[in-house]
Amino acid sequence: MVTAAADTLEGAVRPAPALSTGTIDIALLGLGRVGSAVARAVLDTPSSGSARLRITGALIRYPERRRDVRLPASCLLTDAAEIFARRPRVVVEVLGGIEPARTLVRQALESGIPVVTANKSLVAAHGDELRRIAARSGAPFLCEATVIAGVPFLGTLSRRPRAAAVTCIRGIVNGTSNYLLTQMTATRTLAAALAEAARLGLSEPDPRNDVLGVDAAEKLSVLLQHLGWGRVAPHALDVRGIDGVQASDIDAARDLGGVIKPVILAERSVDAVTAFVGPAFVPLTDRLASVDGSENALALRNGYGELFYSGPGAGPQATAATVLDDVFEAATADGGRLESRSDAPRLSAIEPGAPVTAWFVRLTAAEKLPPAADIADLLGSFGIWLQRSSSLPATRQDACGFLTLPVERARLDSAIGALTAAARCHASVYRALEG
Ligand SMILES: NC(=O)c1ccc[n+]([C@@H]2O[C@H](COP(=O)([O-])OP(=O)(O)OC[C@H]3O[C@@H](n4cnc5c(N)ncnc54)[C@H](OP(=O)(O)O)[C@@H]3O)[C@@H](O)[C@H]2O)c1
Repeated sequence: MVTAAADTLEGAVRPAPALSTGTIDIALLGLGRVGSAVARAVLDTPSSGSARLRITGALIRYPERRRDVRLPASCLLTDAAEIFARRPRVVVEVLGGIEPARTLVRQALESGIPVVTANKSLVAAHGDELRRIAARSGAPFLCEATVIAGVPFLGTLSRRPRAAAVTCIRGIVNGTSNYLLTQMTATRTLAAALAEAARLGLSEPDPRNDVLGVDAAEKLSVLLQHLGWGRVAPHALDVRGIDGVQASDIDAARDLGGVIKPVILAERSVDAVTAFVGPAFVPLTDRLASVDGSENALALRNGYGELFYSGPGAGPQATAATVLDDVFEAATADGGRLESRSDAPRLSAIEPGAPVTAWFVRLTAAEKLPPAADIADLLGSFGIWLQRSSSLPATRQDACGFLTLPVERARLDSAIGALTAAARCHASVYRALEG
């Protein structure tokens, strides 16, 4: 059972930790895949720069569970009060989920202990609150591993306001769903791709959060906070899963010069934010189109161009490396000074609208589709114009694909509803990124 460390943490705010390096005592909240990788890295290389790293305790639920790391039994603790009683210099939260992570992170920050977390669910839901507590107590709160865990960029952006003046975010931030869609070209079904991902250890035992877009939505929510766009609950975003994607949709996208990728997309104008999470048509000319397998990438457009980050998005080892760099930064003067601004403004809550994008549509009929000109006429009567359509062999009249010019979702839905009713066909519909 985990109990809050009320006796050691309540009361007056302790001063921020000393800023010299020396020995950095780390309390791990969680010793699962990431926590164990952090502990292994500390045991293998106990020195980082001028600092010595040491694990003072690891919070777990089940002491009897077999662990992939050799920590002394005295370090495995089920009582958070005991963790804090050992006075760690930095707390690393890798429990996952909201509670008890939120309570324990709050308590650490309120006590002036720096916190490093890889928990995107926690930061997406309570990042604003935790940053303000950190700002008040002067304790750094770092979460570099929450988005594209193996690619450090959040910290850079928080120190570079001009680079961080971003107006458009496009990316692939969930490695599992990217792997699944990449594999589906060969496996033909999502179930077979999932079996392959599980065999290679690329998916969680329960992959629903990846397949349904929840994980990517949490990461987009963290990004929107981090870039100062505002506070948004992941479930308030327009989120679609990849569970409806068919291998034949991927083939049809290829015929039109694109691929289907699990993307995040967000745009900011003077007074509004639009956002979307889900599978989308990405033209082959777009850099995101060649981000395959479990790789992640993020394209951030600012006033002078597009910053493009790519690399491993997860994996215990890559995540542990990023977490330990955060630990070192949190324990040094630089990290303390830069991440603990006492003026952390409260982010306002935002309600992103759905973006106006182009669309990729694939029609299939049991027998024969109407002539292409009739389809274009019907869509035109709704004010929807085609960019291009796939040409099928004369012998195949039961399927076609086309790309529209940008239009709002509601108008597209009305037109596709009328089209599928009139032509007695089925439509698969995806947003399309601009080339
Ligand atoms: N896995 C990755 O590659 C990756 C990458 C980036 C970010 N992350 C994030 O890192 C965090 C941890 O991920 P993970 O894959 O390491 O998770 P995990 O393998 O499920 O490990 C969770 C750990 O937390 C402990 N724990 C959970 N609830 C607890 C409670 N109520 N009291 C005490 N201990 C508790 C568990 O204890 P027991 O061992 O006793 O069950 C386990 O040691 C998540 O937020 C995840 O989103 C993971």
